[in-house]
Amino acid sequence: MEPFKLPDDFLFGTATSSLQIEGGDRNNTWYMWADLGRIKDKSSPETACDHWNRTDEDAELMKKMNQQVYRMSLEWSRIEPKKGSFSQEAILHYRDEIKKLLSYGIRPLVTLHHFSNPLWFEDGQGWLNPESVSLFERYTEYAVRNLGDLVTEWITVNEPNVMLVNGYVTGLWPPGMKNIMGFLKASRHLICAHIRSYKKIHEIGLNMNSGETRVGVANHIRIFDPKTPKLKDRLTAGLYDHLFHDLLIRGMHEGKLLFPVGSGYPYGQGKYYDFFGINYYSRDIVSFGFGDKPMIGRIEVKEGAETSDLGWEIYPEGLYRAIKKYHAVYDTEIFITENGIDDRKDDRRIKFIYDHLFQVKKLIDEGVNVSRYYHWTLTDNFEWLEGYVPKFGLVALDLKKQTRKMKNSGLFYAGISGEKQVSKNTIDKLSGKKHVIEYFISEDD
Ligand code: BGC
Repeated sequence: MEPFKLPDDFLFGTATSSLQIEGGDRNNTWYMWADLGRIKDKSSPETACDHWNRTDEDAELMKKMNQQVYRMSLEWSRIEPKKGSFSQEAILHYRDEIKKLLSYGIRPLVTLHHFSNPLWFEDGQGWLNPESVSLFERYTEYAVRNLGDLVTEWITVNEPNVMLVNGYVTGLWPPGMKNIMGFLKASRHLICAHIRSYKKIHEIGLNMNSGETRVGVANHIRIFDPKTPKLKDRLTAGLYDHLFHDLLIRGMHEGKLLFPVGSGYPYGQGKYYDFFGINYYSRDIVSFGFGDKPMIGRIEVKEGAETSDLGWEIYPEGLYRAIKKYHAVYDTEIFITENGIDDRKDDRRIKFIYDHLFQVKKLIDEGVNVSRYYHWTLTDNFEWLEGYVPKFGLVALDLKKQTRKMKNSGLFYAGISGEKQVSKNTIDKLSGKKHVIEYFISEDD
């Protein structure tokens, strides 16, 4: 590992989502999913990191880690516990949390929707219902009117592609459907919800913060490489790209509905983004064939590749390729809104961070405007279908005692964030060290 420097105005932080860390809320689809026994380790997000009661402690952790920015999300089911009725208590809680962050000099980037829906919304057909668009817009309006004096940077929706594929194609996530028509319908509504919400945030922002508002989407981008140069594999990889990336990205950013979601521009051709958010984790090797219904094509991990504990290929060049690709299309400021690894022993995360940031440096040297890196994630937390088994945190969490303990990778990241560089000192101190977190790994954890 060689030292390298990033620009002084490059911003470092971490990303989290409300459902995965807050705990205590039963009014959302993921609590219901856990209650149905659908989480692999039979756990529930009801406990999570108890962040709802520990916002100060976690903000202090971020400060200690020299973070300049923090990506967090709001839990819709807390803010609007019943259709049309909003909770002042919940919004005041978020105001306090955000004020604390600001007092530490940490700028929040707030996501309105990160995978979880209020139960009343899902009971009313969720994203399949055309009314979902105006319901989401109304929630946006409430959140932004009440927080817009503190928050200028928003993400409307996190990874719509991941949520819709899991919720409507594989059926592994709520609402548990395997229905391509449902996938297309929900995609259309999410695209419209983003555009209406984008416009609404700007409209309110104009009065609240003299137009400094910026809005984007956190796009999950994967690399789909064909297994062989054969036409059928290349076409299959192209199809994945179209269905998984283009449909939602072009819809949400340009307002264009592509086949088979629709056609034309329901809200006019436009620019519905102020930055481009990329969540990047891994790549898939794609070949022609038929998988589990209704899946088309086969996906595998590159033979011999190094992987995370979840079996995802560690492929830092993919971050470079993804950013290059979308920078060429959208030519705007790029935020890496998520990047991280499930690494239980914390023995690969340091190298993972180093290698991915190295790609960022390369991009910046080539003139690409990548300005932020939000590591996924601050503390180990509730990882959706997988429950608490995966460990993505820079900070270890003792679930029972709810104590936090910095990992070596957390110290490494804190060093980089503070100095805007991977210094020789940081490398010497931490890169060869064994992990220190055995303490937290118990049988039933
Ligand atoms: C999601 C996070 C998730 C992470 C790791 C992203 O797809 O936005 O919520 O925890 O990946 O799987």
